[in-house]
Amino acid sequence: MKKGLFVICMAALFATSCTQTGKTEEDRFIEDLLSQMTLEEKIGQMNQIHFDKSLDSIKAQVRNGELGSMLNIDPKLINEIQKTAVEESRLGIPLIIGRDIVHGYKTVLPIPLGMAASFDPQLVEKGTHMAATEAREQGITWTFAPMLDISRDARWGRIAESLGEDPYLTSELGVAMVRGFQGDNLSDNDAIAACVKHFVGYGASEGGQDYNSTNIPERLLRNVYLPPFQKTVEAGAATLMTSFNDNDGVPASGNDFLLRTVLRDEWGFDGFVVSDWCSMVEMINHGFAADRKDVARLSANAGLDMEMVSQTYVDYLPELIAENKVSIDVIDNAVRNILRIKYRLGLFENPYVDEVETSTIYSDEHLQTARQAATESAILLKNNGVLPLKENKTVAIIGPMAHAPYDQLGTWSFDGDKNHTVTPLKALQSDEYKHIKYYYEAGLGHSRDESTRNFERAKSIARQADVVVVFVGEEAILSGEAHSLSDINLIGKQSDLLKAIKSTGKPVVMVVMAGRPLTIERDLPYADAVLYNFHPGTMGGLAIMDLLYGKANPSGKLPVTFVREVGQIPMYYNHNNTGRPAQDWITPINDIPLEAPQTSLGNTSFYLDSGKDPLFAFGYGLSYSTFEYSDLNLSSNEVNANDTLTVTATIKNTSDIDGTEVVQLYVRDLVGSITRPVKELKGFQRLALKAGEAQTVSFKLPISELAFYGKDLIKKVEAGQFDIWVAPNSTEGLKGSFTVKE
Ligand code: BGC
Repeated sequence: MKKGLFVICMAALFATSCTQTGKTEEDRFIEDLLSQMTLEEKIGQMNQIHFDKSLDSIKAQVRNGELGSMLNIDPKLINEIQKTAVEESRLGIPLIIGRDIVHGYKTVLPIPLGMAASFDPQLVEKGTHMAATEAREQGITWTFAPMLDISRDARWGRIAESLGEDPYLTSELGVAMVRGFQGDNLSDNDAIAACVKHFVGYGASEGGQDYNSTNIPERLLRNVYLPPFQKTVEAGAATLMTSFNDNDGVPASGNDFLLRTVLRDEWGFDGFVVSDWCSMVEMINHGFAADRKDVARLSANAGLDMEMVSQTYVDYLPELIAENKVSIDVIDNAVRNILRIKYRLGLFENPYVDEVETSTIYSDEHLQTARQAATESAILLKNNGVLPLKENKTVAIIGPMAHAPYDQLGTWSFDGDKNHTVTPLKALQSDEYKHIKYYYEAGLGHSRDESTRNFERAKSIARQADVVVVFVGEEAILSGEAHSLSDINLIGKQSDLLKAIKSTGKPVVMVVMAGRPLTIERDLPYADAVLYNFHPGTMGGLAIMDLLYGKANPSGKLPVTFVREVGQIPMYYNHNNTGRPAQDWITPINDIPLEAPQTSLGNTSFYLDSGKDPLFAFGYGLSYSTFEYSDLNLSSNEVNANDTLTVTATIKNTSDIDGTEVVQLYVRDLVGSITRPVKELKGFQRLALKAGEAQTVSFKLPISELAFYGKDLIKKVEAGQFDIWVAPNSTEGLKGSFTVKE
């Protein structure tokens, strides 16, 4: 029998009995295999490389059992390399093939920040499942997503990949993504292993500069940054990736407290941990490891199972074992974790990807899902009545993002094909919209273009139209990894273009496609309406047309605060209160008399030049419908820590247009053993309401959800008074209160 086939048969045998006896059979399979492995083969499982040398030399490594995984390889080569692993290596252990399937594989969804704006876990799960189906069809068995980094700094380019600033929303949608990727059973042919990343705190990089240090104390880590990871681990996330940052001086890839105490001992994680790309060797730059050997020692002992790319494990673990600096138990446990996920993926039984009869890639169903996702992800920020547009009016289409098929796909989309992108311009040429009379002039070649030479032409077509839609934003490459910005105004001459168009006197709709919340306050006076899209993906153009023409009604809400000025960052809704919270009235800077005497009396916490408020708050988003909130009711005003509170309110669509409202539930714990956030999201629901319809919305709030790590660092609910809101966003809403009894 061929070497590899032996393992496959063994897996089949164990899998059969597995159904009867559960996890034990999985363990027996793993232990049996482990007992046959040499030290080198074990360490090989802990090694992941990308395609940086010839296929022959990679195959040689695979044949020798020196590799457990490859990432981001050409899917066409997957079967060939897998065949080498299964049929030519001594034990025939299949490789796990990883790739960044972040917001779609070929059919591209909105970037994760956009998906988050939908506040729709079902849609997020469906979209993610779509991505998994397309990827697994190509032999990819592992994605490096979802990213769960709480992101409160729009300068940070990777805010695009995040689910925003809020731990609850990130947890809910992160769990939906894990479910979408992994399905019911990892071995299904439409499931791939998820990887929750980046563990942890990476989104708090100082100054929004990528890879920078973070300084998050343990209590804040536990209350804000860790919960999305814990929730997704509880939901069965198969793998986890360490982050690049050093937190409070300890790089994540060498942090045994996080990887052992928190992840394994407290949360019981039984998947495997992978480093980020070279994040292990970067500990040398951090000044945390002396050399590559030290790197291998630190990461292995910290509990990091698989090394991405930098190969210090294969180079140094044998020596470190011989010197007793790393114990064989550490290696065995890492290998167990890796084999466990390979086993659950069914790789020992079905290592290869089969030719599919009908590909799901760009199928009608997938395009429809992408369109729905782009529709639900758009946020209407302003509307003086110009929207929805009328189909019998002539429209001028202007701006560099009106037809940017590549950029519309957003960051981390290396498989999306721009030839399949439906831009707004293409949408106007489609059967659905070709009856609309339009003129087009981009005005600027791309978002960074500094040339105003086409402005006059753009103005002249604006004059010929009844209404103008100006598409502005950012190219995809201006956000994402290593693409932080210190100025987040509209880049290039886009604001000037908008102003020039407004000067024609025509009504102007500004449509933004960007990777981050940009500072658009200075642009608002020149737009009668603003529809904001975080790069909306393959079907963005049709979704935007549906929204502009009222075939769909905007329902997205902001998953992140929009600041007025970059200098307000970090600004997020769920901050603690200062001792001098800002009042509604603040002194405008020009009202301060000359040579005013120095005083702090009566002053509160705000910026002299940009005030205390954001431009748009977390949770904000308009609709063509209007909604009225009334009749807040709590099932009790006094509860115990183990009770569940039922909170109801009536929401009425007071308009003559059907619409969907994202109803949000917030609480505030008024006094704690530590200061508590002024508001915290604890629930949300998408409520579809016909014109004129009213419905009662009901939230069940288990009081245990109010628990937090207090002064003693023990998680518990603290008795006392709470405020509660049922609200359309984080600044308005119906307010009530209740008491949690001792
Ligand atoms: C990124 C990860 C990504 C990995 C693999 C790294 O640079 O930080 O998020 O999954 O590359 O492509």
